[in-house]
Amino acid sequence: MCLCKTGDGIELRAIRNADIEKLLELAIWSEELWPLKSFRQRLTEAAELHARGKGLACALYVEGEAAGYVIMDFHWTKSGQLHHGQLHYGLAPSHRGKGVVTKSCGALIDYAFRRLDLESVSIIVPVLNSESCGVPERLGFEKAGTSWGLDEDGQPVETAEYAMSRGGWQAREPR
Ligand SMILES: CC(C)(COP(=O)(O)OP(=O)(O)OC[C@H]1O[C@@H](n2cnc3c(N)ncnc32)[C@H](O)[C@@H]1OP(=O)(O)O)[C@@H](O)C(=O)NCCC(=O)NCCS
Repeated sequence: MCLCKTGDGIELRAIRNADIEKLLELAIWSEELWPLKSFRQRLTEAAELHARGKGLACALYVEGEAAGYVIMDFHWTKSGQLHHGQLHYGLAPSHRGKGVVTKSCGALIDYAFRRLDLESVSIIVPVLNSESCGVPERLGFEKAGTSWGLDEDGQPVETAEYAMSRGGWQAREPR
């Protein structure tokens, strides 16, 4: 099912099992960075949450071919109100450098603010992953700060948190 389109050949479709197999073939993550088993599990869990209305999990289709993914994890207030989304993304190496993820995240953020009434969206990235930091920076997110945590292997990693409020998104300059 197509959730949204960017208008230039990119479609965001709810991830199906066949997409997961395709995304695993695309070498989005190197095995050393994130074992494929964890990647499969992450995509499968996100797709299940999407199916239950508890998150968004989209395969990015470029000119009809699966090229990457954007996931939005949902956060609720104590009273059960959906208020925040956290974005995660990855793209096949052959599609990088063309703005595919920036445009796709922009489309999903629009969808989330307009249709789901979220208050804010964040993106947390390792400081050393400059390609990933570029996505929120191009979208006009504010850098909220940096902190140290542990990566998948329990190794220390410094991450930067970028944030966008609904008001900030509505007021931003057209890009
Ligand atoms: C992070 C990742 C998705 C970034 O990919 P990307 O292709 O650089 O990002 P985009 O698709 O948004 O493309 C942006 C690039 O296209 C260029 N571009 C060209 N046309 C563009 C347009 N119309 N709009 C925006 N950017 C455009 C930008 O200038 C930028 O290139 P630059 O960095 O050389 O300046 C990719 O490196 C990846 O999948 N890495 C592995 C997984 C990962 O690290 N995920 C994030 C975990 S925190």
